Amino acid sequence: MGNVIRTQSLTKIFNNQTIAVNNLTMDVPEGSIFGFLGPNGSGKTTCIKLMLGLIRPSAGTVDVFGEPMGMDSADLRQHIGYLPTNPQFPDKMTPITYLDFIGRTFGLTKQERVPRITELIRAVDLLSLSSQEIRKFSTGETTRVGIAACLINDPQLLILDEPTSGLDPIGRASTVRLITELGKQKDKTVFVSSHILADIDRVCTHIGIINDGKLVFTGKITDVKKLIRMNTFELSVEGDTAPFIEKVREIPNIIDV
Ligand SMILES: Nc1ncnc2c1ncn2[C@@H]1O[C@H](COP(=O)(O)OP(=O)(O)O)[C@@H](O)[C@H]1O
Ligand SMILES: [Mg+2]
Repeated sequence: MGNVIRTQSLTKIFNNQTIAVNNLTMDVPEGSIFGFLGPNGSGKTTCIKLMLGLIRPSAGTVDVFGEPMGMDSADLRQHIGYLPTNPQFPDKMTPITYLDFIGRTFGLTKQERVPRITELIRAVDLLSLSSQEIRKFSTGETTRVGIAACLINDPQLLILDEPTSGLDPIGRASTVRLITELGKQKDKTVFVSSHILADIDRVCTHIGIINDGKLVFTGKITDVKKLIRMNTFELSVEGDTAPFIEKVREIPNIIDV
């Protein structure tokens, strides 16, 4: 199994001052669901932009599909689906009109677009909203339109930058489920960033942990679990939560609530 993304000593310094990505060497294996975990400001988005060739590294290299990635690598980007954090959509567009627009920019014919759009809208569970204006959607529904859009060209590599950002627990659970489904497609590699351990933990086969621009761990998720014997549970509670939290704290082995 090869590596779909390989970074070597990747470094990005903004304005000769902020070291956003610091000497980062990391491999993303083909077919993996790779979780890129780190707190806000740790360099995840900068690293993703470097992997896509949207910005120039200060030092180091990125290879994607075994080829050097740079700002002029439009041919490589053709095979990558990219979902930025909190994507924005043109006013008045619906999932159908937006996906049709994206399909046309990828040069798909009408005969190709119609079945593809139907399939994608079903996959992201937006059938009932397919003709409604996206600007009226919840954050979770908007994210699902974005995921459908970045799948339009059937990319081998999907890069999702904090797809669970701003979602409530239900929206997060459904996004995590969707990513799991995508990851089951054998020829696809999914690279997903998050600052929430619980999201990564549930879906990913591999993980990279970044802090202050430096990679502090990378490997299989099973190896992480051996390192940190810890589980995170998430509960939604209605009503007065204070007595509930008190009770949970009394349970032995609970580290934090
Ligand atoms: N265009 C930019 N100009 C200057 N500093 C930047 C720029 N983009 C990001 N940074 C800085 O780089 C660091 C990493 O940011 P970012 O990659 O967005 O982190 P994350 O996505 O993990 O929250 C932060 O300190 C941020 O302020
Ligand atoms: Mg970010």
